[in-house]
Amino acid sequence: MAVIHKLAITQFRNLNNQYIELNKQLNVFVASNAQGKTSLVEAVYYLGHNRSFKTKALKELIQLNHQQFQLAAQVDDYRLKLEKSKQKTLISLNQNRLKNSSELSKLLPIQIITPDKGFVVNGTPKNKRSYLDWGVFHLKPDCLSDFKKYHKTLKNINFLLVQQKQQELDYWFLEIAHLSSKINQARQDYIEQLKQTNSAELMESLSQSFCLIDTFDYQFKSGWPKEVDAFNADSIYQYLLKSKAFLMKAKYLNYGPHKASLDFLLNDQQECFLSRGEQKTLSIVFWLTQVSLLVNNNTYPIVLIDDISSELDQSKIQTILNYLQQLKVQILMTDIGINTLRIDPENTSIFKIEKGVITQG
Ligand SMILES: Nc1ncnc2c1ncn2[C@@H]1O[C@H](COP(=O)(O)OP(=O)(O)OP(=O)(O)O)[C@@H](O)[C@H]1O
Ligand SMILES: [Mg+2]
Repeated sequence: MAVIHKLAITQFRNLNNQYIELNKQLNVFVASNAQGKTSLVEAVYYLGHNRSFKTKALKELIQLNHQQFQLAAQVDDYRLKLEKSKQKTLISLNQNRLKNSSELSKLLPIQIITPDKGFVVNGTPKNKRSYLDWGVFHLKPDCLSDFKKYHKTLKNINFLLVQQKQQELDYWFLEIAHLSSKINQARQDYIEQLKQTNSAELMESLSQSFCLIDTFDYQFKSGWPKEVDAFNADSIYQYLLKSKAFLMKAKYLNYGPHKASLDFLLNDQQECFLSRGEQKTLSIVFWLTQVSLLVNNNTYPIVLIDDISSELDQSKIQTILNYLQQLKVQILMTDIGINTLRIDPENTSIFKIEKGVITQG
């Protein structure tokens, strides 16, 4: 069960030197604009992913006039630490250095709900893949090595295509065909499990407050053309061989898991036709379904919700909180006020943020 008990943030955005002890259930951070709400959420996200959801530029994250930032947390019984400067990244678990960040992600699974990352329904394929693969990874961590090998293989193929090295391509085509079919299967299996989760009490509890009517469906798009059986390595391989001349011209492999997506449908209507309110609502249903599925499989993600009332009214926020609390996951939520929320003071800590200083109470 992932719970952040203690959190220390040093020189990250406008948070200079902050230490807080968190409630194992609900934590609400209240502040007016530009005080540090998103910075806090981004810091926790960064610790779990070794990247930001807002920027790739490290210099935006390191506090002005400093050379590095440091994030540290006690998550369950583990002490995680991440130090980052232009020259180096240091990640440690109980003071032992970790070579890569996948161990961090495993110990600190984080689901984020924020307008800054964009909604998943009618979102970009990249954003859809990012949410999808987050779930696949946490349910089936072994998949990570296939994803890594896939991206290396893709790089090799694109290099050979640019260099016009025809003869060497076949070997890598075979390799990518195998990896693709494995990734496609893992993604498809995960989606099937999500759909089963979806049909449960989640839709029921959300439907009243969100006025949702019956069928919310999603379909996996593998990233390969329709004529290819995306779960069959040989079918992919034969397609690649057949398309070799075309690919040599294009100099880039434009098909495969790196182009996969999800199509969302509400009552058979495609996502692009839905209103912004419907897109937002369904995105939240999708994210909560992911959390629910992981909890069913004994992984308790920490849920970050930034700037919630700019996107949702109080009754919807209440429904989301009730649902998440019933799942017993830890929540870190930011808002500009908590006027009308019914929160149980026993299981809630409220913090204020003013000019980057976080205080409890
Ligand atoms: N690298 C940095 N160093 C110092 N300050 C920074 C850095 N990056 C951003 N800031 C500042 O941190 C402050 C807080 O930003 P943040 O996005 O966390 O605000 P917020 O509380 O989420 O506001 P809003 O309610 O408008 O979303 C802003 O004034 C921003 O300019
Ligand atoms: Mg913000």
